[in-house]
Amino acid sequence: MRKPPTVLVIGASRGIGHELARQYRDVGATVHATVRKSGDEAALQTMGCTVHRLDITRGDDWDAFAGSVASLELDIAIHNAGVGGPRYDGPPTLEDFDETMRSNVWAAMRMAPIVGPRVAAARGRLVIVSSRMGSIGARESAAFTTYRASKAAVNSVAKDAAIVHGPRGAICVALHPGWVRTDMGGAGADLDVADSARGIRKTVDGLASGDNGCFFSYDGAAMRW
Ligand SMILES: NC(=O)c1ccc[n+]([C@@H]2O[C@H](COP(=O)([O-])OP(=O)(O)OC[C@H]3O[C@@H](n4cnc5c(N)ncnc54)[C@H](OP(=O)(O)O)[C@@H]3O)[C@@H](O)[C@H]2O)c1
Repeated sequence: MRKPPTVLVIGASRGIGHELARQYRDVGATVHATVRKSGDEAALQTMGCTVHRLDITRGDDWDAFAGSVASLELDIAIHNAGVGGPRYDGPPTLEDFDETMRSNVWAAMRMAPIVGPRVAAARGRLVIVSSRMGSIGARESAAFTTYRASKAAVNSVAKDAAIVHGPRGAICVALHPGWVRTDMGGAGADLDVADSARGIRKTVDGLASGDNGCFFSYDGAAMRW
C-alpha cells in the first residue's frame, strides 16, 4: 500500500490554497499549511493540518520557515500565495509595483532554495502557482499589466527551480489554476474552487520526470510560456 503523501501548501488561509489543504487532508495526506495572520490557523488545525506562520514578503519569516521544514520530505509542495496587483488602468505606482513583485516573484525566489531540496529528498513535485495571464504566448489582453508581468516573471523562477532541483529528483512546474471563483478571481469566474483544486491534484499526481520545467493548466493541458 502506498504511504499517504506529505504535502505543503503555502498560502492556505482562503481561496485555492485553503481548498487544496482541505482536499489533501480528505484523502489522508499529512498537510503542512501556511498562513500569515493569527486567527487563520484554527480552521486548518481543525482539519488536521500542521500550520506554519509565514508572510511571504518578509525575509525573517522565510528564515524561520526554513528551520521549521528543514527535516521534512515533501511529496508535493504548492507555492500558491499571491496577490492580484493593482486594479486600475495605467502604470502602477512604485508602491503597488513593489508589493506585487515582492509577493508574486521575490517570494518564490525565497521559497525555491528552501522547499526545492525538501521536495527533491522525497523525489516529489514542486508546483508554483502562476496564471494564464502570465503567458506571453497566449496573451490577448494587456489589462492588469503588473499582475501579468509578475506571473511571467514567476514562470522564469519555476523554470530555474526545475534546472536546479530537477536533476536532484524533484519535478518542478508552473501551473495555471483556471479562472476560479475566489476573492481574487471574483464571482464571475469560470470555475468553482473545489473543481480547480481537484484538477490541480489530478494534474500533480500525473506529473512525470519529463514534465520538469513545464507549464500546465489545472486540467493537465500544456500552457504556452
Ligand atoms: N482565482 C483565480 O482565478 C486565479 C487565476 C490564476 C491564478 N491564480 C493564482 O492562484 C493563487 C491563489 O489565488 P486565489 O484565487 O486563491 O487568491 P485569494 O483568494 O486572493 O487568496 C490569496 C492567498 O494568498 C495569500 N497571500 C497573499 N499575500 C500573502 C503574503 N504576503 N503572505 C502570505 N500569504 C499571502 C492570502 O493570504 P491572506 O488571507 O493572509 O491574505 C491567501 O491565502 C495566486 O497565486 C493567484 O495569483 C488565481
